[in-house]
Amino acid sequence: MKLILDTANLNDIKYFNEYYPIVGVTTNPTILSKEGGDIVAHLKEIRNIIGPDKELHVQVTETKCEDMIAEAEAIVGLLGKNTFVKIPATDEGIKATKYLSAKGYGITMTAILSAAQAMIASNAGAAYVAPYVSRLENICDDGVAIVAEIQAIFDASGTSTEVLAASFKTVRQVLGVAMTGAGASTVGSEVMYKLLAHPTTDTSIAGFASDWKKAFGDVTLKSLIEKAGK
Ligand code: G3P
Repeated sequence: MKLILDTANLNDIKYFNEYYPIVGVTTNPTILSKEGGDIVAHLKEIRNIIGPDKELHVQVTETKCEDMIAEAEAIVGLLGKNTFVKIPATDEGIKATKYLSAKGYGITMTAILSAAQAMIASNAGAAYVAPYVSRLENICDDGVAIVAEIQAIFDASGTSTEVLAASFKTVRQVLGVAMTGAGASTVGSEVMYKLLAHPTTDTSIAGFASDWKKAFGDVTLKSLIEKAGK
């Protein structure tokens, strides 16, 4: 399952882009509102950090089909290839998705809260659908089960639309989604750190270092190999 970073924080994007195997960055109006300032320059800087080959998902702010289409064209004009336009799952959004996907735009249909919405989005030509796992669980629904339903429908139909699950609060949710066969998940910085961090990994590494030092002192294995080769 591809991992995408769900933030517009430039320091986090620089860090995770350098160290983690992320394939892109997702934003939405709420995420961008946390950054403030010149948001057009900010989006360009995100593209500059991740480069032209990674995915950048940016959501429209318009709500009428024609206005969404014009905004989508402006977003892709600004940010170039591998930019996906996020469009909410409304009737106006579906109409815009039908038009834009037929023109070759990559559309991520967002604010998906049901498998039925995902099916309509897929039929409209969306490249991705973004179901909101935590927001479903916050209303006593089963977010991971709904992702599994969507994935089963996509597998049965053979559609090229991929699941891009979103709205995660826990590592367990991410793993649950990965087990459904979903193509991608977008994860905020806090959960992304937690995917890798483990206290027993840290104590194991400390034990290796201390045992090595007791046996061989401050030399490295590389220096011993070099010495042996002379
Ligand atoms: O863009 C969708 C996703 O980022 C929403 O996440 O945490 O606001 O529910 P959250």
